[in-house]
Amino acid sequence: MQAPAKTAIPELDLDFVRARFPAFSVPDLAGQSFFENAGGSYACAPVIDRLTRFYRERKVQPYGPYAAAQAGGAETDEARARLASMLGVAADEVSFGPSTTANTYVLAQAFLRGLEPGAAIVVTNQDHEANSGPWRRLGDEGIEVREWRIDPTTGHLDPADLAPLLEDGRVRLVCFPHCSNVVAEINPVAEIVALAHAAGAFACVDGVSYAPHGLPDVGALGADIYLFSAYKTYGPHQGIMVIRRELGEKLPNQGHHFNADTLYKRFTPAGPDHAQVAACAGIADYFDALHDHHFAPEADARIRAARVHDLMRAHEERLLQPLLDAVAHRNAVRLIGPAEAARRAPTVALALNRPAEPVSVALSRHGIMCWAGDFYAVRPLQAMGVDLDQGVLRLSFVHYTGAEDVARLITALDEVL
Ligand SMILES: Cc1ncc(COP(=O)(O)O)c(C=O)c1O
Repeated sequence: MQAPAKTAIPELDLDFVRARFPAFSVPDLAGQSFFENAGGSYACAPVIDRLTRFYRERKVQPYGPYAAAQAGGAETDEARARLASMLGVAADEVSFGPSTTANTYVLAQAFLRGLEPGAAIVVTNQDHEANSGPWRRLGDEGIEVREWRIDPTTGHLDPADLAPLLEDGRVRLVCFPHCSNVVAEINPVAEIVALAHAAGAFACVDGVSYAPHGLPDVGALGADIYLFSAYKTYGPHQGIMVIRRELGEKLPNQGHHFNADTLYKRFTPAGPDHAQVAACAGIADYFDALHDHHFAPEADARIRAARVHDLMRAHEERLLQPLLDAVAHRNAVRLIGPAEAARRAPTVALALNRPAEPVSVALSRHGIMCWAGDFYAVRPLQAMGVDLDQGVLRLSFVHYTGAEDVARLITALDEVL
């Protein structure tokens, strides 16, 4: 049987996109180009509208017998169900927590109680601390922690280096990033997950730096845990966590004992922020609006999400290559991660031979909003020999960025570097 033909990817309609982000109509932000998206993106209008509506009309305990509570409950269910169908998983395999860092902390507690004596886990030194520190602390409790290390020159995480760590069959969990928030190289998630599974381990993927560039098909990737942060993905300040059923039912419940039978409540000990969870349905509204504006109608949410993913990626790759070309061979600038746009997210960290923070200040005078520091990616930067006191300059964009923003950034870099 022939594979279905891939839908052609049209050019992204930037006016359509920007009309859906109120930030682009705020006078104080006009005339500036935003390059700190990896820290937190602008929120799209459907999210802001839903959040406001919840606070105005539905700010009561959801699911009660009266209309406002029913509407609020239905909206939180809608957020979970719609995001789940875009991610290719079941609705109860999606849960919300205060942040990705809080979510990994809870998951680490669950693994601590769920692992048998003699078990080991694998962590990387490419991860943001959120998908590293909470797991590494299990080492204090007698669990062996093995480090899968990056290449100190390129920051590359090689799957060939994972295989020996899995050889003795004692590893029960492999934690790694879809892409790091400083190296930005897109890791081959399905391949790594398959290696972990073949060795009898589960896989936990930090997708925080990837999801803003297009939601992944978590079902197809095979990850047992996939984490991302709504506030970097056009939404409110929530951590979104996919936990596949087989693992979620096996790990000890971390929520109230009487909620143990509800998968999406098992790893969220904090009471949910109902308004923000409900507002996450606005992310689905926005992605669907993007889809319907650019593609023929499609009933399957997973296919719609895949098309929007490709639409965003194509636009971002087109803008990213000139930026990489402009910085890759510059004197006294070290580009962290690959120089080919197709291999990475548009999160470009540069080590300079001087403190990076004053450079971000200088860029702000040219209308460039960006920042500098370690971005809680202390371990990868250290492993690559970057001076943490100097930090890196990070220039990160998403699909709502235009070619003129990148051109302005390149001109500004010429001035300040
Ligand atoms: C790659 C990556 N993982 C995890 C996190 C932590 O996310 P949160 O702020 O939701 O805890 C961040 C935040 O910057 C990140 O960039």
